[in-house]
Amino acid sequence: MKGSFPVEKFKDIQTPFYYYDTDLLRNTLSAAENAANKYGYHIHYAVKANANPRILSIIREKGFGADCVSGGEIQAALDAGFPTSKIVFAGVGKADWEINLGLEKDIFCFNVESIAELEVINELAQKKGKIASVAFRINPEVNANTHHHITTGLKENKFGINLDQLNKIIDLLSTLTSVKLIGLHFHIGSQLTDLEPFQVLCTRATEIQDQLVKKKIFLEHINFGGGLGIDYTHPNKNSIPNFEDYFKIFNTHFKVLPGQQVHFEPGRSLVGQCGSLISRVLYVKEGTIKKFVVLDAGFTELIRPAFYEAYHKIENLDSEALPETYDIVGPICESSDCFAKQFDLNKARRGDLIALRSAGAYGEIMACQYNCRKLPQSYFSDTL
Ligand code: LLP
Repeated sequence: MKGSFPVEKFKDIQTPFYYYDTDLLRNTLSAAENAANKYGYHIHYAVKANANPRILSIIREKGFGADCVSGGEIQAALDAGFPTSKIVFAGVGKADWEINLGLEKDIFCFNVESIAELEVINELAQKKGKIASVAFRINPEVNANTHHHITTGLKENKFGINLDQLNKIIDLLSTLTSVKLIGLHFHIGSQLTDLEPFQVLCTRATEIQDQLVKKKIFLEHINFGGGLGIDYTHPNKNSIPNFEDYFKIFNTHFKVLPGQQVHFEPGRSLVGQCGSLISRVLYVKEGTIKKFVVLDAGFTELIRPAFYEAYHKIENLDSEALPETYDIVGPICESSDCFAKQFDLNKARRGDLIALRSAGAYGEIMACQYNCRKLPQSYFSDTL
């Protein structure tokens, strides 16, 4: 089955462009909210997945907070009206101006990734006469069993404070006067379809928390990051991820202390399925051993297949003819500009509209201008 696209309305729009189904976005947000509310969990949307202003404003209307990884993302969240008290700032390389922006805006929390960073935040906060709230991002050494480019919770990854440095940073903390430790932060990786690693994370987080309690350190919040995967193969059947099962794992396996808040930072699971990249067939090219469909979209608009060998379902919105097997490629002058190899697509002709599905997360935001291409426009189901 193909998705339900207003194909007639697409006819006059210059391709390639991003199309967002705002009903699906709202339904997904509600599903996440309802599942999280069962346990009183808080959601900060990971802005990195999609910072389109309209998408951000719909998410902000829902009352979610924002998880940012740069000064630019903090600014995008502020522009979309997220309250500063619901903005967290993570990232392994925060520049001074970015830390200063967070301090000036009195954001909720800096997720600190190293001893060196904690010292700089303390120094910059002191200069401003402020106390910065910080959480330690701990590298929990949990294998997320996902693509190696999007695994983050292993010793070999650059992210987080390693467990063997925890005591050292806690000792340092007691000597710093302009930072206050309010939480712990974890993020083990992205696009996890097997929930077991989250269970391991809960056990690890409980152990770490127990150690800290022994040192008389009580943390107001624990942040389990993002990572819940989506079904790229069946975007229609599984258009909304199973948030119920996801949050239940944490409720079952993580021991919340009285008065403690539990936070999450989902990105992909909230916005992934509501977006598609819409493109047109420029040429059907008969090679000697293969047939190619050459699209007017390339990795400049959707880099995931080239970068991570990611699968995106591809649909011909203008053809019901019997499928033929094609390599589906873009116009960029690089062999890696290929969306799918040996893919069965309804027989294609020049001008056919093609949808690359499940592109709402890490699609538009990762677009670039290589080959002097224009950044793609975006359109929304409720305003088209
Ligand atoms: N929190 C932190 C600290 C993160 O690093 C990330 C994602 C998230 C939350 C949100 O994770 P999500 O719920 O979206 O899995 N560009 C890649 C994905 C990179 C993810 C980076 N960190 C892709 O296209 O698959």
